[in-house]
Amino acid sequence: MKNLQRIENELKLKKQLDLLREPIEISQRDGKYIIVNGKKIINLSSNDYLGLAANDGLRRKIIKIQEKYSISSSSSRLVTGNEKIIREVEQYFASFFGYEDAMFFTSGFMANVGLISSLFSAESTIFYDKHVHASVVTGLELNQAKKIGFKHNQTSHFSKRFAKHANSENWVILESLYSMDGESADYRFWESQKDKINLIVDEAHAYGILGEKGKGLFGSIADIAVGTFGKAFGYTGAFLLLPKIVRTYLENNCKAYIYTTGISPANAMVGKFLLDQIATMDAEREIVRNLSNHLRNLLRNEKISFQGKYHIIAIEIGDEGKAIQIQKIMQNDGFFVFASRFPTVPLGKAILRISLNPLISPKDLEIFVSKLRKLL
Ligand SMILES: Cc1ncc(COP(=O)(O)O)c(C=O)c1O
Repeated sequence: MKNLQRIENELKLKKQLDLLREPIEISQRDGKYIIVNGKKIINLSSNDYLGLAANDGLRRKIIKIQEKYSISSSSSRLVTGNEKIIREVEQYFASFFGYEDAMFFTSGFMANVGLISSLFSAESTIFYDKHVHASVVTGLELNQAKKIGFKHNQTSHFSKRFAKHANSENWVILESLYSMDGESADYRFWESQKDKINLIVDEAHAYGILGEKGKGLFGSIADIAVGTFGKAFGYTGAFLLLPKIVRTYLENNCKAYIYTTGISPANAMVGKFLLDQIATMDAEREIVRNLSNHLRNLLRNEKISFQGKYHIIAIEIGDEGKAIQIQKIMQNDGFFVFASRFPTVPLGKAILRISLNPLISPKDLEIFVSKLRKLL
């Protein structure tokens, strides 16, 4: 390869600024543990919020499903990948969550980029929370709509911007539970705006783990909702919940759906199996709620600043170098906590992102917080 100087320079600069990403290598996962450099450490950074991906009994059942159904769609859904069974599972999801229809994608990133890049025209105005996920931001960059960001979770700022910029076709994009700070959007406010906007809500971090039977924080208030199998479902793939007419529109316009191999029948059936499991997991949701309360009390007692009401807790660190240092020391001390840095969070506002699941014990959290207190 030629002309690598620019690439080298950019990486060097990232390293100097403590912004270089160097993912740890995990040799094995074992319940709440991961094994890194031969050492077993507690994973406080998994999005497997119900512990489903770590469940061996469930894994055996999933393998049985995969033995029974095709493991590849072998083409786009628009060519020969649209098996009846996938449509049936999509309709099953739609009815479970209270929507007219559903549409599967191979990941949440694809679902968001696909939806947001293709649904709008130059006549549309999109108001979006400035902390929406990178997949939404990427979708926004690809469409022709007028885009108006508002300050994170500040409904009064939205109202001001709406009064100034509203057009004939107005949309709002939110997350129900924000992936980095663990704060939730105010569904009562957004419900009250429904007469003037169309609402898109990404429930990636809420479906499965929050709400009645895991139906998320917004119920079916949103016009279009986004869910992924990669978090509480403990699997891979994603779904949009949407009106039939929007589904047909996307089938005709969404490149991330048209020009890619569709989800496999096996994965769709696994999704259905996991949805049925999740609906029955009130006890696990309760355990995680209690763990979250416990962790927040421990942090408050130690006067450690944090954000987050539910299973995602963001411990405020600020300096990127310090966040990385704490991650490394904690790793040696038996815990994996993820130091999230720019551009995932704003510059100078690095956090330790803790995510909980029912396999973690209250005692684990007590040990973690006492070690963290000493470090801080
Ligand atoms: C809010 C949000 N939406 C979408 C995604 C993408 O989902 P997936 O991991 O299935 O690609 C993520 C993943 O990090 C996310 O946090």
